[in-house]
Order: sequence, then C-alpha cells, then structure tokens
Amino acid sequence: MGKDVIVACDFPNAETTLAFLDRFQGRKPFVKIGMELFYGAGPDIVREIRKRGHRIFLDLKLHDIPNTVKKAMSVLRDLDVDLVNVHAAGTVRMMEAALEGLTRPDGTRPLLIAVTQLTSTDQEALEQDLGVERPIDQVVMHYARCAKKAGLDGVVCSPLEAEKVHTACGAEFLTVTPGVRFADGDAGDQKRVMTPTEAKKIGSDYIVVGRPITAADDPVAAYRRCVREFLG
Ligand code: C5P
Repeated sequence: MGKDVIVACDFPNAETTLAFLDRFQGRKPFVKIGMELFYGAGPDIVREIRKRGHRIFLDLKLHDIPNTVKKAMSVLRDLDVDLVNVHAAGTVRMMEAALEGLTRPDGTRPLLIAVTQLTSTDQEALEQDLGVERPIDQVVMHYARCAKKAGLDGVVCSPLEAEKVHTACGAEFLTVTPGVRFADGDAGDQKRVMTPTEAKKIGSDYIVVGRPITAADDPVAAYRRCVREFLG
C-alpha cells in the first residue's frame, strides 16, 4: 500500500458519516472508523462504506488475552477492511494471536498495526498510573520493536517518532501518524503536532486527519489540501 491521507470519521452515527462522505466526488478518501462509530452504528457501517469504494482503517485497538483477540480478529477479517490495530501493551504473544486470527484461509489478510503509547499518556501517567519507570520515547520504541518481532506491519505513533521507528524497525515498517494540523490551523487538544508537509518530509506512511477536515467549512477543499501537501 502506498502513502495516503486517512480521514478520521469521528461521527456518532451512520447518517452523519454517510452524508459527510457523499460530499466527496472523485478521489474517495481512505476512511478511519473508530470505536464511537463502530459501537454506535455496528458492522453494517463498515460494509456500507466499503460498498461505496473507500479503503478502511478499522481503529478498534484490541487488547485482551491472546485467545479472545484471535477470535475477535477472525470476525473482523471478514469485514474486508484494509487496516486494523491492537495495543502493543497486550504482549508479543497477543499480537501474534491477532495475526493468526486475521489471516484468511487463502493466506491474505488486512494490514495489522499496533498502538505504542496513546498520545494522551504522558511521562507522569506512565510512571504513576502504569508503573513504568522509563522515558516515554524509549517505551514507544520498545513497543515498536515488539510489534515488529510479532510480525506486525507497523505502528500508530506521533509524527515526531516516525523517523526513529523507521530507523529501528526498517523503512518498510509502516508509521501511521495522527496529530496532524495545517500550519494556519488550530491544534485543539493535540499537543504534539506536525503539518502534512512536515509529516511527508519525516517519512510518515499514512497521516490520520480528523477535525482539520471534518470540522472545516469546506471539508472537501481541506481534504484536497491535505492530499496536495502530503502526497504532492
Ligand atoms: O481530529 P484529530 O485530527 O485530532 O483526530 C485524530 C484521530 O486520530 C482521532 O480519531 C483520534 O482518536 C486518533 N488518534 C490520536 N492519537 C493517537 C491515536 C489515535 O489522535 N495516539
């Protein structure tokens, strides 16, 4: 899969999501479906968006015992999405089980990536709440190496970490990076941000962009701008 802009469709229901996607004539965005939409609208929304010809990143961040994750993944594989994810904190064994569950009888499967550390977790929470007494960037790199060891295709990480992940895990190991904002845009609650142009320069494979597109006055123009800056 080549590089692309993934639009985070963080909407509460199918109607709003489909009305939003209806605005895009021509280039069909690669769509991210997260927990809110999936739990609200169910698997039918995945099938409908697929039917409309979009590529899909199903962002459900699985994290459970290996057997449960394997079985859940074997359900998700039949939804025919392009990209799914797990938490690397679930262990190498859990990530291996996820891969097994995701692989179809003919050997094909969606790409599988791991969340390293959520960007909402800071150094203090890592130490106080999770009991991990190491610098957060080292923990992120450790999880990226675990994901690589388990045979996964890449990680979700901050754009600021993408270069280091490629150095440690190889250029072909995918970096999928949220936290993207236009140079003249509002960062909102994202603390560590990069523009699409900068994300391109540091070698992100996929940028995940939500509100700069979904909340724009003209979402289609904002999407095209993002594509121009990141892929152009
Ligand atoms: O609106 P915004 O561009 O901030 O949306 C970013 C998307 O990426 C959201 O769907 C958010 O849940 C997701 N995400 C993130 N940071 C992570 C993992 C996922 O912002 N570490």
